[in-house]
Amino acid sequence: MSFRQRIVALVCLVTLLVMGGAFVGVGRLFVSSQLQHLDEALLSLAREEATHLASTGFTFSPEPGLDVDDTGPLLKHGAVYDDHGNVIALIHFDAVPPPSTSFASSKLGKPFDFELRGELLRGVVIAIPAHPSKRLLMAVTLKDMQGDEALIRRAMGLAVLVAVIWVGALVSYIVGRYTRGHRAIAEVARRVSDGDLSVRVGHVHQDPEVRPVAADIDHMVERLEVLVSSQQQFIAHAAHELRSPLTALYGELQLALRRPRTADEYREALQESLDSARRLRDLAESLLALARVGGGPVGTANRIELGPLVAHVIAQVTAAFEPGRVVFENHVGEGETIGRESDIERLFRNLLENASRHTPKGGRVRVRSHADDTFIYLTVSDEGAGVKIEDQDRIFEPFYRAPTTRAVIQDGAGLGLAISKEIVRVHRGELLLVSGETGDLPGACFRVSLPTAVAVERRSMI
Ligand SMILES: Nc1ncnc2c1ncn2[C@@H]1O[C@H](COP(=O)(O)OP(=O)(O)O)[C@@H](O)[C@H]1O
Ligand SMILES: [Mg+2]
Repeated sequence: MSFRQRIVALVCLVTLLVMGGAFVGVGRLFVSSQLQHLDEALLSLAREEATHLASTGFTFSPEPGLDVDDTGPLLKHGAVYDDHGNVIALIHFDAVPPPSTSFASSKLGKPFDFELRGELLRGVVIAIPAHPSKRLLMAVTLKDMQGDEALIRRAMGLAVLVAVIWVGALVSYIVGRYTRGHRAIAEVARRVSDGDLSVRVGHVHQDPEVRPVAADIDHMVERLEVLVSSQQQFIAHAAHELRSPLTALYGELQLALRRPRTADEYREALQESLDSARRLRDLAESLLALARVGGGPVGTANRIELGPLVAHVIAQVTAAFEPGRVVFENHVGEGETIGRESDIERLFRNLLENASRHTPKGGRVRVRSHADDTFIYLTVSDEGAGVKIEDQDRIFEPFYRAPTTRAVIQDGAGLGLAISKEIVRVHRGELLLVSGETGDLPGACFRVSLPTAVAVERRSMI
């Protein structure tokens, strides 16, 4: 049973009990007051009639009966009993059988109900003045009163029924109105769980209590949609990037096996295959790194002295390139941060490799640092062509390579800066492409800001 149905059932039941109870009470009151009037009228008629009978030798008066009915006076039924309880006069008791003698001994002046030939009557017995041993029974039918009572009961029953239906419909409408926001939210949640991320609760006709929840839900679904679509894009890109070296590898091996070759030719084919395999391995490693870094803090954070770390990375990069490729200038001063060393190393390797690759042979790559209370700023600048304005927003996106560099420098899958940005983000820092300030070289200039070890400890930032 839904919340709405439960509320409607409860309110209808309460209405039924309250109104039914009230109407039964009112009905009883009405009937008893009617009866009281009737009794008074009956008693006064009996007294008049008794006086008349005493003076006329027990002949009933021709006057009509009680005037308590809308349709005219009630027929008066009368009987006079003698000392022995025999009927000595009758009016309108077409006495077959005659009213029982036992009525003669009824309590004087006390109205009572009795049934005669299937009809309910109300009567009263009184003594006849000047004939104390004679009794007069005066009675009138209760048929009309019973009719009135039944009519009232029917009318009240109908009123209760209408009230219950009306209250039920009203409550159902009100509860429906107040819960439609929740229903809309539930519907959105259901459709989202079914995979439809285009649904929104929306802002129409919402109650103030529901509106902020609906806005939060919509915001959440929007974020989810963006996330899912960027993940799908990412997977498509990754598959695309994996396909090129795989296709190359496949082609080279197939070609080598097509006919017998000399040892040199095999060596050459193996070398090319090795290049493709290396590209595949690098790509897999980069993808893993991105997934691991983006997945949140893993491993322990240590205090890292950045000067020696940068010197170590410069040595690695120098060894990886042919001798004299670029000249590194290391101006990194003292400065410590707290983080995962392997990640910070990867960050600087990415930046220094990029700088080396984009700098013409024999050019310079400069790293320098300065610090304030909270952050250490390290800039990596080079003597390359820099990043074109139209590419500046996109170079941090996974798999993005500027079209010009893609043609010239065919290494890397465009994940380096995305990984670097992610590493800096989880260390509560920032990685930006900046225009080289005085002291930086005129090519591309990337600035890493990392919180100082003191700041990290002060705020427990990592
Ligand atoms: N020092 C730089 N000078 C000029 N362009 C750069 C430099 N570093 C990065 N870029 C641009 O940013 C793109 C993305 O870099 P990155 O994410 O490291 O990918 P990859 O090195 O695999 O190309 C590069 O393709 C290049 O266009
Ligand atoms: Mg790179």
